[in-house]
Amino acid sequence: MSILFDTERKVFRLDAGSSSYAFCVGPWGQLLHLYYGARISDTDLGYLQSALNTGSFSPNPPEGDDSAFSLDTAFQEYPVNGTGDYRVAALAIRGENGSSATTLRYRSHTIRRGKYALDGLPAVYAAEDEAETLDVLMEDPLTGAEVHLLYGVLDRYSAITRAAVIRNSGQSPFVIEKAASAAVDFPTMDFDLVHLYGQWAGERQICRAPLTHDIRTVASKRGASSHAHNPFAALVSRNAGETSGEAYGASLVYSGNFAIETECDSLETARLVMGINPIDFAWTLNPGELFTTPEAVLVYSDEGLGGMSRTYHKLYRSHLCRGEWKEKIRPILVNNWEATYFDFNEEKLLAIAKDAADLGIEMLVMDDGWFGKRNDDRSSLGDWFVNEEKLKGGLKPLVEKVNALGLKFGIWFEPEMISPDSNLYRAHPEWTLCAPGREPSIGRHQYVLDMSRKDVQDYLFDVISGVLSGANIAYVKWDFNRNLSEAASAELPPERRKETFHRYVLGLYSLLERLTSAFPHVLFEGCSGGGGRFDPAMLYYSPQIWTSDDTDAIERCRIQYGTSLVYPPSSISAHVSAVPNHQTGRVTSFETRGNVAMAGAFGYELDLTKLTAEEKELVKKQVAQYHAYAPLVQDGDFYRLISPFEDENRCAWMSVSADKSEALVTFVVPRTRVNFNSYLRLAGLDPRKKYLDESTGRVLSGDTLMNAGLNLSRSYRDGESVLIHLKEVKA
Ligand code: DGJ
Repeated sequence: MSILFDTERKVFRLDAGSSSYAFCVGPWGQLLHLYYGARISDTDLGYLQSALNTGSFSPNPPEGDDSAFSLDTAFQEYPVNGTGDYRVAALAIRGENGSSATTLRYRSHTIRRGKYALDGLPAVYAAEDEAETLDVLMEDPLTGAEVHLLYGVLDRYSAITRAAVIRNSGQSPFVIEKAASAAVDFPTMDFDLVHLYGQWAGERQICRAPLTHDIRTVASKRGASSHAHNPFAALVSRNAGETSGEAYGASLVYSGNFAIETECDSLETARLVMGINPIDFAWTLNPGELFTTPEAVLVYSDEGLGGMSRTYHKLYRSHLCRGEWKEKIRPILVNNWEATYFDFNEEKLLAIAKDAADLGIEMLVMDDGWFGKRNDDRSSLGDWFVNEEKLKGGLKPLVEKVNALGLKFGIWFEPEMISPDSNLYRAHPEWTLCAPGREPSIGRHQYVLDMSRKDVQDYLFDVISGVLSGANIAYVKWDFNRNLSEAASAELPPERRKETFHRYVLGLYSLLERLTSAFPHVLFEGCSGGGGRFDPAMLYYSPQIWTSDDTDAIERCRIQYGTSLVYPPSSISAHVSAVPNHQTGRVTSFETRGNVAMAGAFGYELDLTKLTAEEKELVKKQVAQYHAYAPLVQDGDFYRLISPFEDENRCAWMSVSADKSEALVTFVVPRTRVNFNSYLRLAGLDPRKKYLDESTGRVLSGDTLMNAGLNLSRSYRDGESVLIHLKEVKA
């Protein structure tokens, strides 16, 4: 049993891997949080509840007039707005009386085998015998709001999933002004907040700073999880590193506007609340209707950030990614974007495909520019029919020729967008997302489609299905190149227009669900101007995501390192591109470009026909390396060794196979130094096993490699890198 209920004390304890999580039903039915951390074995935990209060300025619940108990200071499970707790709330419901003061009282609970699913939303899944679900029913007596707090425990993982389902069981509509997915109160604020910020071509940079007495928000209002912030934060003990210390990860399975708020109060406690961003959100719930929040995935680690990441990697790889590709080795692809941009035709693509086949590359991906009249980014989004001036005879003959060379064929779409200069816009200007009465702002010369509309979803399903069934297409890159603005669906009445952002995301998920079910053999790759929507929810539909439009290997070290905090290497799409790099102008060696891309779902993004004979030999070598190492990289345990955010000269990571018989170490020198002393201590190996370092022929035991390390001191050039394969040798 992973979920226990102590009936006498009314305490719930959830045991997940090496962690425990506990809360209880309080004196008047409030749900009070008790504990989250390393595994414990008691349920007599009521003594952990805060006994502090701040005097008469902390109100007491009306039932008791008990000055010893205030929601203002109590640790709570799902704090509500406006009834005595002044910290960040998880739930605010505006009832018929116009007030957003909300009350929740415990009614009942159920514990069952299996993991709950969420209607219309992606969520972690598990077999019946792998997980348990706790469903606690809370009620607001005035509005009739029933709130089901859902908890999922997969006992093999130190992870707890949470979500809330709100039902209007009253007689009148009410408005949900805020409905978080999870909240956690900690009895200490002695934490650093770690989160990922960034920009286009510079995603998921690591930020770490101590909590202070304030409210801090990591959030997006862009309609997408965004380049700027990722729906992830961790509270880590001040001494936590990669291998030791406590880390509490909070990751939201959602691709739209989100907020992860932390608040620290005068009593030095910390609260974390995460879910849909309450700004620009309000949802009217009529009697009998349900509202479901996205899922929050909480991970506890007492092995620092590294332990936290490895739990997310395994959980997301096996219980969030779906479909036949999720655990398969992905094909090595060549994408023509940086090779040709919009300037291509069948001849050019076939020339690349021919060279790709000779070099052992397995798939050609035709990127933006194959449809409508699209010769630059000013037109044709929405017109998903082939531009026969570029591809004479259409898609089918091209795909057949590519297949005849022994390559799979992949294609690019940007389904959620519409160009003002398109047949689709001329036929359906009303499908453009725009607040009635306003002009839509334009981004990359394009508008956004109102994905909340069923007719838009149906159009996209039909037109994309037509393309995918018209030729042997093995892969789809699903791009999204601007953020939402004027997001108010004309289809909704004015008082419901703040539902648009969330309805957009639900519409997107519904379309993705239909397409991925209809085309189960197709490998979907998520993309948003690189990694502008690199979030767990998109992994539910596409097991890999284009990580960044910055393909510079040195920049990629930081981007991929930051991404690895939450996301498994198998999801991190990474390509070798040309030099000077198109984004930075930097020149790095072909080897380093390959070594860095080898840490993810590997491919090329350059004009193969322009490579020298020597470079072609290097491609062949990399292809062979990928075949040898991909199982290790995709399924192995990932260890970050030297952070490029902390060391400007070095960066290192490694993958270790599950049975610890093999490892692949990557060491990169972004910026060299004279007399470069560099010892690298490894991690994750079996201390007693002996390993052959294939680069030196030296055999060393795991304990030596992890404690004394490798001696990599020598002269390096800027951007040089080393790939070291270690293989167990039996005595
Ligand atoms: C942005 C993507 O990230 C690129 O890889 C490429 O597909 C372009 N869009 C095409 O417009």
